[in-house]
Amino acid sequence: MNQTNEFPSYRGTMRYKCLSCGATYPIDALYYTCPDCGGVFLLEDTSFSSLAEKHDGPGWRKIFDARAATKNTALRGIFRFYELMAPVLEAEDIIYLGEGNTPIVRASRELEAYAGQPLAYKNDGQNPSGSFKDRGMACAFSYLRHLVRKHGWKDVITICASTGDTSAAAALYASHVGDPLKSVVLLPKGKVTPQQLAQPLGSGALVLEVPGVFDDCMKVVEYLADHYRVALLNSKNGWRILGQESYAFEVAQWYDWNMGDKAVFVPIGNAGNVTAVMSGFLKLHRLGIIEDLPKIIGVQSSHADPVFKYYDQPAEARIYAPVKVRPSVAQAAMIGNPVSFPRVRFLVDQYEQLGGVFHVVQVREQEIMEGMLRVNRHGHIACTQGGECFAGLLKAREKGFLDPHDLAILDATAHALKFIGFQDMYFSNSFAREYEITPGRELHNAPQELIAASRKEDLDEQAFTREAAERVVARLGLADKHDHY
Ligand SMILES: Cc1ncc(COP(=O)(O)O)c(C=O)c1O
Ligand SMILES: [Zn+2]
Repeated sequence: MNQTNEFPSYRGTMRYKCLSCGATYPIDALYYTCPDCGGVFLLEDTSFSSLAEKHDGPGWRKIFDARAATKNTALRGIFRFYELMAPVLEAEDIIYLGEGNTPIVRASRELEAYAGQPLAYKNDGQNPSGSFKDRGMACAFSYLRHLVRKHGWKDVITICASTGDTSAAAALYASHVGDPLKSVVLLPKGKVTPQQLAQPLGSGALVLEVPGVFDDCMKVVEYLADHYRVALLNSKNGWRILGQESYAFEVAQWYDWNMGDKAVFVPIGNAGNVTAVMSGFLKLHRLGIIEDLPKIIGVQSSHADPVFKYYDQPAEARIYAPVKVRPSVAQAAMIGNPVSFPRVRFLVDQYEQLGGVFHVVQVREQEIMEGMLRVNRHGHIACTQGGECFAGLLKAREKGFLDPHDLAILDATAHALKFIGFQDMYFSNSFAREYEITPGRELHNAPQELIAASRKEDLDEQAFTREAAERVVARLGLADKHDHY
């Protein structure tokens, strides 16, 4: 095996740390909230600072760059950055379904001119289940497999509440691991897209529908996790956060570890992803792998904006309050009481202490929807949450949060196809009133009938083809093949 294929020898000393009371817990059991005070956990490697003694920043860069070419599947996905994430796993525990390493696609000149800012999308919808959740699940399931192997557990029920993508990812990874895992997902009835509902069904999960919204489902799984033996896969599970940090590592690596003049835009729902992205950049910064922290800009819809509302208050007067959500096309982020909010507050403080910039902007539903349609007309494959990022970029510019030369890196958190029903609603002007979206002409599109079915009966095959083709010619005013351009 050549060096890039070798599994790392470093093992960390990991533990759960409560962000409210500071209590710590060993990782050989599954914890989601602090048994002492109910606070949320982050996982920490108490040996992390020894990594700085092993290699300096450029040394680590070299290692991660070399690993980018590996064919060892245990290191090929998110675990390229093994030492920074969950360095307690063995190669045999690691599940690789092709997650991570998603492309960063620079916007066309036309789109950049419209935005007035250089920008690129990181297409996390190109993960196996079509969203960034696979990063977290690859880590959480690898750890679960590690525990199953260590303890010889039988019949492990994995459970999650979801706005659609978490359950799709959980069900996919559980179905690949198979026995002894069984996947159960709770979804708010009618509040996930048909594609998202089809995913856990197709993976063979038990799908349980709950009336209400995500926050209602979350309370049920929290109750279950508090009282019964289940493996909770929501982002309360700290292993999910670790896996999602790989997004930040990949962004930094793509830009040759230079995060100066960059602004990373992330839609915020349960706030797991923005937590992971900040934590990831902080780790790189601590080890000298990056010198500058990028600006982090969280984006929320005005229909689900508790994190925006918190940071919109003067620093000394900030009070957190959950909000009641209203229907949003950024449905995956339609969360009124984000579980990871305490993590955000904790990490933003650290980020700002190191001179990093963090903002949250609020955007309207109309802006989100048109953001998605507009970018996808320029070669992107953004979901509505990705559209929310674009709307957030325009808002951040307007607010003066960006320098003119900042490159904005937008998170297309899921594939456009998962949310394509919202595009249909825009084109057919069929949004329920509560969405507050009025479709305009500029971004409209619809199929047009070229030729009536009855003509097919009237004409032979050749004549039908010719007539259909001539209608195209007439409609487009096509020039003859022999005419010069
Ligand atoms: C596609 C998509 N984008 C964004 C989010 C929001 O991420 P988070 O809940 O980690 O804030 C979600 C969460 O479900 C999602 O599925
Ligand atoms: Zn605690």
